[in-house]
Amino acid sequence: MSSTEQTFIAIKPDGVQRGLIGPILSRFENRGFKLVAIKLTTPGKEHLEKHYEDLAGKPFFAGLIEYMNSGPICAMVWEGRDAVKTGRTLLGATNPLASAPGTIRGDFAIDVGRNVCHGSDSVENAKKEIALWFKEGESVSYQASQFNWIYEKA
Ligand code: CDP
Ligand code: MG
Repeated sequence: MSSTEQTFIAIKPDGVQRGLIGPILSRFENRGFKLVAIKLTTPGKEHLEKHYEDLAGKPFFAGLIEYMNSGPICAMVWEGRDAVKTGRTLLGATNPLASAPGTIRGDFAIDVGRNVCHGSDSVENAKKEIALWFKEGESVSYQASQFNWIYEKA
């Protein structure tokens, strides 16, 4: 059974610098997901190391942190039915060269180390990431006017 979820989506520094905030936001808006939190932030090395702590042993870890720390990140929370899994589908595969056209990475990126966006990979990790990137009160609760045109049943 699919359920209403929240997922953490971030436009990485390359995506921000390349003017891709609008196009990436549009993918989520057009699909019908609801934006409940958004900010531009440069959270610093320590925060980014915490965000990617599961990858600390990987050979690309230092480069990944340097990349993520190289400019502002557009941090967001999107809400909707099955938002975590579907968010990953909208992003495409980790390696953009393996991402299908029509996905964000498949349309806007080439190198794995410059893959323009992040999305939570499980509901549990989404909760952790939202708590890391947003303080209480930074995300809003509202009824989207189009709700009944997107969903057959509440
Ligand atoms: O971002 P995603 O969840 O798809 O992939 P990940 O395995 O959690 O890796 C996090 C990030 O590390 C990727 O999005 C890439 O930016 C980077 N990475 C890399 O630079 N080289 C790799 N071989 C794998 C990942
Ligand atoms: Mg990941």
